[in-house]
Amino acid sequence: MAILIGGAWPYANGSLHLGHIAALLPGDILARYYRLKGEDVLYVSGSDCNGTPISIRANQEQTTVTAIADRYHQEFIECFQKLGFTYDLYTRTDAEHHHKSVQAIFLKLLENGHLYTKKIEQAYCTVDKQFLPDRFVEGICPNCGAKARGDQCDNCSAILDPLDLLEKRCKICGTEPEIRETEHYYFAFSKFQQQLERYTEHAEQTNAWRDNALQLTKRYLAEGLPDRAVTRDLPNGIDVPVAGFEGKKIYVWIEAVAGYYTASVEWGKVNGVDMMKWWNAQTTSYYVHGKDNIPFHSVIWPAILRGLNSEALPTHIVSNEYLTLEKRKLSTSQNWAVWVPDILQRYHPDSLRYFLTINAPETRDADFSWREFIYSHNSELLGAFANFVNRTLKFIEKSFDGNVPQVDVEEGKKAQVAELYKVVGQKIEAGSSKAALDVIFEFVRAANRYFDEEKPWITVREDLAACEKTLATCTWLIQNFAVLLKPFLPFASEAIEGMLQVRAESWKPQEALAQKVVNVVPLYERIDVKQIDEELEKLAANEK
Ligand code: MF3
Ligand code: ZN
Repeated sequence: MAILIGGAWPYANGSLHLGHIAALLPGDILARYYRLKGEDVLYVSGSDCNGTPISIRANQEQTTVTAIADRYHQEFIECFQKLGFTYDLYTRTDAEHHHKSVQAIFLKLLENGHLYTKKIEQAYCTVDKQFLPDRFVEGICPNCGAKARGDQCDNCSAILDPLDLLEKRCKICGTEPEIRETEHYYFAFSKFQQQLERYTEHAEQTNAWRDNALQLTKRYLAEGLPDRAVTRDLPNGIDVPVAGFEGKKIYVWIEAVAGYYTASVEWGKVNGVDMMKWWNAQTTSYYVHGKDNIPFHSVIWPAILRGLNSEALPTHIVSNEYLTLEKRKLSTSQNWAVWVPDILQRYHPDSLRYFLTINAPETRDADFSWREFIYSHNSELLGAFANFVNRTLKFIEKSFDGNVPQVDVEEGKKAQVAELYKVVGQKIEAGSSKAALDVIFEFVRAANRYFDEEKPWITVREDLAACEKTLATCTWLIQNFAVLLKPFLPFASEAIEGMLQVRAESWKPQEALAQKVVNVVPLYERIDVKQIDEELEKLAANEK
């Protein structure tokens, strides 16, 4: 089966914070799981290097857009690598291949009659001498009265024309923008209203989207899809490939989101594989992102695909709610954030993967607090899981010279483990990695109780056969935990397989019991709880 997984494209205008990782991590879990299951996975993403956020940053630092994009793209790659993300291709939207593919898509949409030109009025800043991109027009939402910016109100989620905002201001310099005429291409989204209604109904019946995506999309459809301008007067981006439109760029609405496809094209070319396998009506696809990206993936991208006569519409929309920090909304401008390059200097990537999965913002906002994070590491990841591994393997090292007793594993455990693979797999496939990890950890705690109840430290003297059975069973459980946890805690899984000298490549109960235990070392170190206060102090001190 072909499984396409698309992770959202972070803007290359600043470091990644934990909110990004909370939103994107489910993608890596899906990719790792489906590969273990033996499916053909293609997992793509990249850095969003176009658009105004980067131009502004470049202006502020008096450098070039490319320099900024290079810096953060490189940093993103390092962060994703350290966190164990397994993208098949992580590319960037300023890559030549992306520009070429997007221009081809644009021309195809034009040829198929879905684009038309229109003269419109747009906000122009006479100070900054440029037309302002949507998100750089700030004002009051005409729908709900909240402070809003750009093309969408964060408070009431209404889709806006930035010109409708009341008391408009330029976000860059604060002056009131002028309104000037300019000509742009419009995408005829309204023509796709009915197709998208049927598509969304189908998603609802199959339960394949997160509820937030479903509800928001139904609301947009109920309001009626308006045609939208898909080109902009911007310095930085992909040129509109039509004479008379020099200097204008294809807007992020259809450009970045097309990256899933253009990255697939590039990956296919580099690897000599026909990527259409991942882009047909039979493909299962997962689109993984934060909730502010929902309409990109549930409305705009499906409409573009239909406009290209493609049937490969997204099947699963994994749109995460937000992560708050110490119960407050993350704010990059106020530096109320935990930055990924920083936290990775002091903490294990598995600790982050564990915390952000077991507390994933799947159905409502979730909170990251230093206290919860450090306690979850110490008491669950280390206290329940790593300790079970360590006490079992140390015991074998000490009392059996590292030789795993080759006796039958407890029969009852076999059936339970087989069931565990089934249940965990179903939950991952349904897009709930949190529920999946919950079930595994419940089992880990049961395994600890089993060890306690069997008391191998006593049976080793009084009933050797019983002791051998306990240790064989625990070792076999650990082997299976290493497999079951590969999507979630890849670093621990690798370490366990090293100590047991086994290597499992498929999602099923392990048949052969490991034979030898070597170089047993703890999977993780305990974190000193003093660090809670230190981290909190740092957070407060760095706040702007
Ligand atoms: N860089 C944009 C954002 O962060 C878009 C990300 S997802 C995409 O909002 F698929 F639309 F690219
Ligand atoms: Zn301005």
